[in-house]
Amino acid sequence: MSTSSIAPSGAESGCAPDHVVQLRINGQRHTVTIDVRATLLDVLRERLRLTGTKKGCDHGLCGACTVSVDDERVVSCLTLAASIDGSDVLTIEGIAAGAELHPVQQAFLDCDGLQCGYCTPGQISSARAMLEEYQRGDLSTATFDGTRADVIGGCTRLSGPEIRERMAGNICRCGAYANIVEAIESVAEQRSP
Ligand code: FES
Ligand code: FES
Repeated sequence: MSTSSIAPSGAESGCAPDHVVQLRINGQRHTVTIDVRATLLDVLRERLRLTGTKKGCDHGLCGACTVSVDDERVVSCLTLAASIDGSDVLTIEGIAAGAELHPVQQAFLDCDGLQCGYCTPGQISSARAMLEEYQRGDLSTATFDGTRADVIGGCTRLSGPEIRERMAGNICRCGAYANIVEAIESVAEQRSP
């Protein structure tokens, strides 16, 4: 496993104390000296040059900055890097297995699940984690909303409406939702028992 150490850039604000955090990002250990107020998103993009994770609203509203921290989806623009010291972070850069795309990445290509692509890293990161949540049995508000005849019938198929509910935090300004849902649905179907 490779490691990197990012030297302090000085107190970037001039008034906030530096803070040292250790993160394992996509399997690589990083020691970074940051302003205690720095968000994970800014540390990823501005300090570590992992620019696949996008900044949309910077207010927790669009999902463009979604990554996983210790296997949970988070919006990195609202996550203070200092608060996740010692954590494992998975960004869009670490989702593929080498040259082999993750099934969700491949499905987005196959189903044209994007137009401009700005929301896509967040959509794919979110969908990957969402499918894991679903497989481990996490519920959503759509799980028992009365439209889940498949649940009532004992089948575990992830429906389009439930995908939309579970992905509601990821906004697409291009409105590519139909193809995004189709892409996620195709992966969910591959994983159905
Ligand atoms: S940039 Fe984080 S939710 Fe929009
Ligand atoms: S593809 Fe353009 S914002 Fe989603």
